[in-house]
Amino acid sequence: MSDLAIVDVGVSYGRFVAVRDVTLAVPAGTTLALVGESGSGKSSLAHAIARLLPPGTGLTGSVQVGGRELASLRGRDLRDVRGRVVSYLAQDAMAALNPVMRVGRQVGEVFARHQGLSRRESAGRAGDLLRRVGIQAPDLVARKFPHELSGGMRQRVMIAIALALAPEVLVADEPTTALDVTVQAEILALVRALQAERGFAIVWITHDMGVVAEIADDVAVMYGGRIVEQGPVRDVFAAPAHPYTRALIEAAREQPDTAAKARFLTIVGQPPAGELPSGCSFHPRCPVAIDRCSTERPGSRLIGEGRHAACHLAG
Ligand SMILES: Nc1ncnc2c1ncn2[C@@H]1O[C@H](COP(=O)(O)OP(=O)(O)OP(=O)(O)O)[C@@H](O)[C@H]1O
Ligand SMILES: [Mg+2]
Repeated sequence: MSDLAIVDVGVSYGRFVAVRDVTLAVPAGTTLALVGESGSGKSSLAHAIARLLPPGTGLTGSVQVGGRELASLRGRDLRDVRGRVVSYLAQDAMAALNPVMRVGRQVGEVFARHQGLSRRESAGRAGDLLRRVGIQAPDLVARKFPHELSGGMRQRVMIAIALALAPEVLVADEPTTALDVTVQAEILALVRALQAERGFAIVWITHDMGVVAEIADDVAVMYGGRIVEQGPVRDVFAAPAHPYTRALIEAAREQPDTAAKARFLTIVGQPPAGELPSGCSFHPRCPVAIDRCSTERPGSRLIGEGRHAACHLAG
Protein backbone atom coordinates (compact mmCIF):
# COMPACT_ATOMS: atom_id res chain seq x y z
CA MET A 1 0.00 0.00 0.00
CA SER A 2 1.07 3.58 -0.64
CA ASP A 3 1.32 6.92 1.09
CA LEU A 4 -0.90 9.85 0.14
CA ALA A 5 0.84 13.20 -0.31
CA ILE A 6 -1.12 16.40 -0.84
CA VAL A 7 1.03 19.38 -1.80
CA ASP A 8 -0.16 22.99 -2.13
CA VAL A 9 -3.64 21.95 -3.22
CA GLY A 10 -6.10 24.66 -4.17
CA VAL A 11 -9.73 24.37 -5.28
CA SER A 12 -11.73 27.17 -6.86
CA TYR A 13 -15.28 27.41 -8.13
CA GLY A 14 -15.11 30.24 -10.63
CA ARG A 15 -13.67 33.20 -8.72
CA PHE A 16 -14.43 31.70 -5.32
CA VAL A 17 -11.46 29.95 -3.74
CA ALA A 18 -12.68 27.16 -1.44
CA VAL A 19 -9.31 25.53 -0.61
CA ARG A 20 -5.89 27.20 -0.44
CA ASP A 21 -2.31 25.88 -0.16
CA VAL A 22 -3.16 22.63 1.57
CA THR A 23 -0.20 20.36 2.24
CA LEU A 24 -0.77 17.08 4.10
CA ALA A 25 0.81 13.65 4.27
CA VAL A 26 -1.08 10.47 5.11
CA PRO A 27 1.20 7.43 5.41
CA ALA A 28 -0.19 4.06 4.28
CA GLY A 29 -2.17 2.35 7.02
CA THR A 30 -2.85 5.57 8.92
CA THR A 31 -5.89 7.83 9.25
CA LEU A 32 -5.98 11.59 9.03
CA ALA A 33 -9.11 13.27 10.38
CA LEU A 34 -10.12 16.52 8.72
CA VAL A 35 -12.25 18.79 10.89
CA GLY A 36 -13.69 22.27 10.61
CA GLU A 37 -16.96 24.15 10.49
CA SER A 38 -19.46 23.94 7.68
CA GLY A 39 -18.12 25.70 4.60
CA SER A 40 -14.46 25.47 5.62
CA GLY A 41 -13.65 23.48 2.47
CA LYS A 42 -13.47 19.90 3.77
CA SER A 43 -15.60 18.31 1.06
CA SER A 44 -13.90 20.40 -1.63
CA LEU A 45 -10.54 19.03 -0.49
CA ALA A 46 -11.99 15.50 -0.28
CA HIS A 47 -13.34 15.78 -3.82
CA ALA A 48 -9.96 17.10 -5.00
CA ILE A 49 -8.19 14.06 -3.54
CA ALA A 50 -10.74 11.61 -4.97
CA ARG A 51 -10.77 13.58 -8.24
CA LEU A 52 -14.53 14.05 -8.03
CA LEU A 53 -14.74 17.84 -8.37
CA PRO A 54 -17.48 19.00 -10.75
CA PRO A 55 -16.31 19.79 -14.31
CA GLY A 56 -14.88 23.30 -14.62
CA THR A 57 -13.69 23.44 -11.00
CA GLY A 58 -10.13 24.75 -10.64
CA LEU A 59 -7.70 22.28 -9.10
CA THR A 60 -4.07 23.28 -8.48
CA GLY A 61 -1.20 21.59 -6.70
CA SER A 62 -0.35 17.96 -6.39
CA VAL A 63 -2.16 14.84 -5.15
CA GLN A 64 0.16 11.86 -5.12
CA VAL A 65 -0.44 8.26 -4.19
CA GLY A 66 2.74 6.24 -3.93
CA GLY A 67 4.49 8.91 -6.00
CA ARG A 68 1.91 8.80 -8.79
CA GLU A 69 0.41 12.17 -9.64
CA LEU A 70 -3.40 12.15 -9.70
CA ALA A 71 -4.10 15.88 -10.00
CA SER A 72 -3.22 16.06 -13.68
CA LEU A 73 -5.02 12.91 -14.84
CA ARG A 74 -7.87 13.18 -17.32
CA GLY A 75 -10.33 11.02 -19.22
CA ARG A 76 -9.63 7.32 -19.22
CA ASP A 77 -6.61 7.57 -16.90
CA LEU A 78 -8.79 9.33 -14.38
CA ARG A 79 -11.61 6.79 -14.56
CA ASP A 80 -9.04 4.06 -14.13
CA VAL A 81 -7.80 5.63 -10.88
CA ARG A 82 -11.18 6.21 -9.24
CA GLY A 83 -12.12 3.31 -7.00
CA ARG A 84 -8.86 1.49 -7.69
CA VAL A 85 -6.33 4.00 -6.35
CA VAL A 86 -8.64 6.38 -4.46
CA SER A 87 -12.17 5.63 -3.29
CA TYR A 88 -14.76 8.01 -1.91
CA LEU A 89 -17.28 7.18 0.78
CA ALA A 90 -20.12 9.70 0.96
CA GLN A 91 -22.33 10.73 3.86
CA ASP A 92 -25.58 9.96 2.14
CA ALA A 93 -25.63 6.32 1.08
CA MET A 94 -29.24 6.64 -0.05
CA ALA A 95 -28.28 9.31 -2.57
CA ALA A 96 -25.13 7.50 -3.69
CA LEU A 97 -26.86 4.18 -4.38
CA ASN A 98 -29.10 3.52 -7.34
CA PRO A 99 -32.62 3.28 -5.88
CA VAL A 100 -33.93 0.88 -8.52
CA MET A 101 -31.08 -1.64 -8.60
CA ARG A 102 -30.65 -4.48 -6.10
CA VAL A 103 -27.63 -3.89 -3.89
CA GLY A 104 -25.86 -7.14 -4.80
CA ARG A 105 -25.92 -6.08 -8.44
CA GLN A 106 -24.56 -2.63 -7.52
CA VAL A 107 -21.62 -4.16 -5.69
CA GLY A 108 -21.09 -6.68 -8.49
CA GLU A 109 -21.13 -3.95 -11.15
CA VAL A 110 -17.80 -2.66 -9.84
CA PHE A 111 -16.18 -5.97 -10.73
CA ALA A 112 -18.04 -6.27 -14.02
CA ARG A 113 -17.04 -2.76 -15.07
CA HIS A 114 -13.43 -2.64 -13.89
CA GLN A 115 -12.35 -6.26 -14.11
CA GLY A 116 -14.58 -7.52 -16.90
CA LEU A 117 -16.02 -10.33 -14.77
CA SER A 118 -19.18 -12.10 -15.89
CA ARG A 119 -22.43 -11.41 -14.09
CA ARG A 120 -22.15 -14.69 -12.21
CA GLU A 121 -18.56 -14.16 -11.15
CA SER A 122 -19.40 -10.59 -10.12
CA ALA A 123 -22.33 -11.80 -8.02
CA GLY A 124 -20.05 -14.27 -6.26
CA ARG A 125 -17.45 -11.61 -5.53
CA ALA A 126 -20.19 -9.25 -4.33
CA GLY A 127 -21.43 -11.87 -1.87
CA ASP A 128 -17.91 -12.39 -0.48
CA LEU A 129 -17.46 -8.67 -0.09
CA LEU A 130 -20.82 -8.14 1.63
CA ARG A 131 -19.78 -10.80 4.14
CA ARG A 132 -16.44 -9.01 4.66
CA VAL A 133 -18.25 -5.80 5.66
CA GLY A 134 -20.14 -7.67 8.34
CA ILE A 135 -23.39 -8.46 6.55
CA GLN A 136 -24.58 -11.75 8.03
CA ALA A 137 -26.90 -12.97 5.29
CA PRO A 138 -25.25 -11.59 2.13
CA ASP A 139 -27.43 -13.56 -0.29
CA LEU A 140 -30.58 -12.17 1.26
CA VAL A 141 -29.24 -8.61 1.46
CA ALA A 142 -27.93 -8.74 -2.10
CA ARG A 143 -31.50 -9.13 -3.36
CA LYS A 144 -32.77 -6.04 -1.53
CA PHE A 145 -33.21 -2.54 -2.87
CA PRO A 146 -31.44 0.30 -0.98
CA HIS A 147 -34.64 1.60 0.64
CA GLU A 148 -35.27 -1.85 2.17
CA LEU A 149 -32.08 -1.61 4.25
CA SER A 150 -31.33 0.29 7.45
CA GLY A 151 -28.99 3.29 7.33
CA GLY A 152 -26.18 1.25 8.86
CA MET A 153 -26.63 -1.59 6.37
CA ARG A 154 -26.66 0.86 3.47
CA GLN A 155 -23.41 2.38 4.72
CA ARG A 156 -21.90 -1.13 4.91
CA VAL A 157 -22.90 -1.66 1.29
CA MET A 158 -21.24 1.65 0.40
CA ILE A 159 -18.08 0.54 2.19
CA ALA A 160 -18.16 -2.70 0.20
CA ILE A 161 -18.41 -0.71 -3.04
CA ALA A 162 -15.68 1.73 -1.98
CA LEU A 163 -13.27 -1.07 -1.08
CA ALA A 164 -14.20 -3.50 -3.87
CA LEU A 165 -11.12 -2.73 -5.95
CA ALA A 166 -8.75 -2.64 -2.95
CA PRO A 167 -7.90 1.07 -3.20
CA GLU A 168 -4.75 2.60 -1.71
CA VAL A 169 -6.64 5.57 -0.26
CA LEU A 170 -10.13 5.87 1.20
CA VAL A 171 -11.64 9.35 1.44
CA ALA A 172 -14.59 9.24 3.85
CA ASP A 173 -16.76 12.38 3.88
CA GLU A 174 -18.76 12.25 7.14
CA PRO A 175 -20.01 8.72 6.41
CA THR A 176 -21.40 8.17 9.90
CA THR A 177 -22.96 11.56 10.59
CA ALA A 178 -26.47 10.42 9.71
CA LEU A 179 -26.24 7.23 11.80
CA ASP A 180 -27.11 6.76 15.46
CA VAL A 181 -24.26 6.40 17.94
CA THR A 182 -24.26 2.60 18.21
CA VAL A 183 -24.32 2.04 14.46
CA GLN A 184 -21.67 4.72 14.04
CA ALA A 185 -19.40 2.85 16.47
CA GLU A 186 -19.91 -0.38 14.49
CA ILE A 187 -19.02 1.33 11.22
CA LEU A 188 -15.88 2.90 12.72
CA ALA A 189 -14.80 -0.49 14.08
CA LEU A 190 -15.44 -2.12 10.70
CA VAL A 191 -13.39 0.42 8.77
CA ARG A 192 -10.55 0.18 11.26
CA ALA A 193 -10.52 -3.61 11.00
CA LEU A 194 -10.45 -3.46 7.20
CA GLN A 195 -7.66 -0.89 7.33
CA ALA A 196 -5.62 -3.06 9.71
CA GLU A 197 -6.02 -5.97 7.30
CA ARG A 198 -5.32 -4.13 4.05
CA GLY A 199 -3.24 -1.12 5.02
CA PHE A 200 -4.91 1.66 3.01
CA ALA A 201 -4.58 5.31 4.02
CA ILE A 202 -7.73 7.13 5.16
CA VAL A 203 -8.80 10.76 5.06
CA TRP A 204 -11.83 10.92 7.36
CA ILE A 205 -13.92 14.08 7.45
CA THR A 206 -16.01 14.66 10.53
CA HIS A 207 -17.65 17.32 12.66
CA ASP A 208 -17.35 15.11 15.70
CA MET A 209 -14.28 15.28 17.93
CA GLY A 210 -15.31 11.95 19.48
CA VAL A 211 -14.96 10.34 16.07
CA VAL A 212 -11.53 11.96 15.62
CA ALA A 213 -10.34 10.42 18.88
CA GLU A 214 -11.83 7.07 17.88
CA ILE A 215 -10.50 6.65 14.37
CA ALA A 216 -7.60 8.97 13.57
CA ASP A 217 -3.84 8.98 14.05
CA ASP A 218 -3.47 12.58 12.94
CA VAL A 219 -5.85 15.50 12.73
CA ALA A 220 -5.91 18.53 10.44
CA VAL A 221 -8.09 21.53 11.30
CA MET A 222 -9.51 23.57 8.42
CA TYR A 223 -10.60 27.18 8.60
CA GLY A 224 -11.53 29.37 5.65
CA GLY A 225 -10.07 26.89 3.17
CA ARG A 226 -6.71 26.56 4.92
CA ILE A 227 -5.25 24.06 7.35
CA VAL A 228 -4.62 26.05 10.53
CA GLU A 229 -3.27 23.21 12.64
CA GLN A 230 -2.21 19.62 12.15
CA GLY A 231 -0.50 16.94 14.17
CA PRO A 232 -0.96 13.64 16.05
CA VAL A 233 -4.45 13.48 17.58
CA ARG A 234 -3.23 12.83 21.10
CA ASP A 235 -0.83 15.79 21.08
CA VAL A 236 -3.28 18.19 19.47
CA PHE A 237 -6.07 17.26 21.91
CA ALA A 238 -3.72 17.51 24.91
CA ALA A 239 -2.34 20.89 23.90
CA PRO A 240 -4.08 22.54 20.93
CA ALA A 241 -1.84 25.28 19.51
CA HIS A 242 -4.33 27.28 17.45
CA PRO A 243 -7.13 29.25 19.17
CA TYR A 244 -9.60 27.83 16.65
CA THR A 245 -8.62 24.26 17.53
CA ARG A 246 -9.00 25.13 21.22
CA ALA A 247 -12.47 26.50 20.52
CA LEU A 248 -13.47 23.32 18.66
CA ILE A 249 -12.25 21.07 21.45
CA GLU A 250 -13.89 23.17 24.15
CA ALA A 251 -17.15 23.26 22.23
CA ALA A 252 -17.10 19.47 21.97
CA ARG A 253 -16.46 19.13 25.73
CA GLU A 254 -19.26 21.51 26.65
CA GLN A 255 -21.73 19.83 24.31
CA PRO A 256 -21.55 16.08 24.79
CA ASP A 257 -24.82 15.79 22.90
CA THR A 258 -23.81 14.83 19.37
CA ALA A 259 -26.37 16.92 17.53
CA ALA A 260 -25.09 20.12 19.16
CA LYS A 261 -21.49 18.99 18.83
CA ALA A 262 -22.03 18.49 15.14
CA ARG A 263 -22.47 22.20 14.68
CA PHE A 264 -19.77 23.60 16.99
CA LEU A 265 -22.49 25.83 18.39
CA THR A 266 -20.52 27.61 21.07
CA ILE A 267 -17.88 29.11 18.84
CA VAL A 268 -18.68 32.78 18.76
CA GLY A 269 -19.09 34.49 15.40
CA GLN A 270 -19.48 33.25 11.86
CA PRO A 271 -16.94 31.45 9.69
CA PRO A 272 -15.81 33.49 6.69
CA ALA A 273 -17.93 33.30 3.54
CA GLY A 274 -16.71 34.84 0.33
CA GLU A 275 -13.93 37.37 0.90
CA LEU A 276 -11.50 36.30 3.66
CA PRO A 277 -10.60 38.74 6.46
CA SER A 278 -7.19 40.44 6.25
CA GLY A 279 -4.25 38.89 8.10
CA CYS A 280 -5.24 35.71 9.91
CA SER A 281 -8.71 34.64 8.70
CA PHE A 282 -9.67 33.72 12.25
CA HIS A 283 -8.69 37.05 13.85
CA PRO A 284 -12.23 38.58 13.96
CA ARG A 285 -13.36 35.65 16.13
CA CYS A 286 -10.14 35.04 18.01
CA PRO A 287 -10.16 35.65 21.77
CA VAL A 288 -6.39 36.22 21.93
CA ALA A 289 -5.74 38.17 18.71
CA ILE A 290 -3.09 40.89 18.77
CA ASP A 291 -2.68 43.82 16.33
CA ARG A 292 -0.40 41.87 14.05
CA CYS A 293 -3.10 39.23 13.47
CA SER A 294 -5.31 41.62 11.49
CA THR A 295 -2.52 42.70 9.15
CA GLU A 296 -0.15 39.76 8.69
CA ARG A 297 -1.27 36.27 7.75
CA PRO A 298 0.59 33.68 9.82
CA GLY A 299 2.25 30.98 7.72
CA SER A 300 2.10 27.36 8.82
CA ARG A 301 5.19 26.47 10.83
CA LEU A 302 6.63 23.56 12.72
CA ILE A 303 5.81 23.84 16.43
CA GLY A 304 6.76 20.35 17.66
CA GLU A 305 7.34 16.85 16.40
CA GLY A 306 4.96 16.33 13.46
CA ARG A 307 3.01 19.40 14.50
CA HIS A 308 2.25 22.50 12.47
CA ALA A 309 0.17 25.57 13.27
CA ALA A 310 -0.57 28.83 11.50
CA CYS A 311 -0.79 31.28 14.40
CA HIS A 312 1.50 34.13 15.42
CA LEU A 313 1.10 33.10 19.06
CA ALA A 314 1.70 29.35 18.67
CA GLY A 315 4.76 27.48 19.88
N1 LIG B 1 -19.92 23.20 -6.66
C1 LIG B 1 -19.72 24.35 -6.00
N2 LIG B 1 -19.84 25.55 -6.61
C2 LIG B 1 -19.64 26.71 -5.96
N3 LIG B 1 -19.27 26.79 -4.67
C3 LIG B 1 -19.13 25.64 -4.00
C4 LIG B 1 -19.35 24.36 -4.62
N4 LIG B 1 -19.12 23.39 -3.69
C5 LIG B 1 -18.80 24.04 -2.55
N5 LIG B 1 -18.79 25.39 -2.74
C6 LIG B 1 -18.46 26.41 -1.73
O1 LIG B 1 -17.14 26.15 -1.24
C7 LIG B 1 -17.08 26.37 0.16
C8 LIG B 1 -16.59 25.11 0.84
O2 LIG B 1 -17.58 24.12 0.69
P1 LIG B 1 -17.37 22.62 1.18
O3 LIG B 1 -18.56 21.86 0.76
O4 LIG B 1 -16.05 22.16 0.70
O5 LIG B 1 -17.33 22.82 2.76
P2 LIG B 1 -17.41 21.72 3.92
O6 LIG B 1 -16.32 22.06 4.88
O7 LIG B 1 -17.43 20.37 3.35
O8 LIG B 1 -18.81 22.06 4.60
P3 LIG B 1 -19.87 21.04 5.30
O9 LIG B 1 -19.31 20.79 6.67
O10 LIG B 1 -21.12 21.84 5.35
O11 LIG B 1 -19.98 19.81 4.47
C9 LIG B 1 -18.46 26.81 0.60
O12 LIG B 1 -18.49 28.22 0.67
C10 LIG B 1 -19.36 26.32 -0.51
O13 LIG B 1 -20.48 27.14 -0.66
MG1 LIG C 1 -18.79 18.80 3.38
